[in-house]
Amino acid sequence: MASIHLRHLEEYLQQLDGFNKPKILLEQYATSAHIASHMLYCAQSQFNDIEGHTVADLGCGCGILSLGAQMLGACHVIGFEIDSDALEIQSRNCSEIELFVEAVQCDVLQYLPGRFEKYFDTVVMNPPFGTKHNAGTDMKFLEIATKLASNSVYSLHKTSTRNYVLQKAAQYGAKGKVIAELRYDLPKVYKFHKKASVDVHVDFIRFELNQ
Ligand SMILES: C[S@@+](CC[C@H](N)C(=O)[O-])C[C@H]1O[C@@H](n2cnc3c(N)ncnc32)[C@H](O)[C@@H]1O
Repeated sequence: MASIHLRHLEEYLQQLDGFNKPKILLEQYATSAHIASHMLYCAQSQFNDIEGHTVADLGCGCGILSLGAQMLGACHVIGFEIDSDALEIQSRNCSEIELFVEAVQCDVLQYLPGRFEKYFDTVVMNPPFGTKHNAGTDMKFLEIATKLASNSVYSLHKTSTRNYVLQKAAQYGAKGKVIAELRYDLPKVYKFHKKASVDVHVDFIRFELNQ
């Protein structure tokens, strides 16, 4: 069960600001309130993975997943993000909806897990898909996530890479299950995008860590 209704969670998350000037190399596109609320609500209502749990958000950006986890009753949430501009927006978002979520500015791939190894019950993330100059970034994020979490990881990955993602996850000691297939609407935030938005097929996957 979840302590708030899905519709209310989505309405709250709709109030949050996204990236001002998205940075191409960091693949900054915010998760929509619709997708973020459904991801988190599913993690709580179907698997009991949020309320009362410690939660990390890798590449937290403006904070939509971490703030959503906090709204669903997580006991301690930390967002990790490399970009200080994004974290300024995250901090503003926290003030606006009067919720506090801790944020750490760091390169997730360089400085984690560190002292956070197996500190979290649950990791939620929308990692850079690694499509442009940084192929494989989502898998590097996933590997780190499996080191941080003791129970489960929720993540988004391109559907076209599904078999590879599930195989690699098994090597990291995580059993992946596709929960939903989404059409992710990437807005035209970059000059090289010719269309106003691009639909990308994306899997929402829950990875269960071996106990
Ligand atoms: C697809 S966006 C998702 C943002 C946010 N989590 C959301 O769901 O709206 C990926 C985020 O990862 C951050 N990022 C990229 N590389 C990173 C790294 N090496 N360490 C930490 N954060 C990184 C980007 O700045 C961006 O905020």
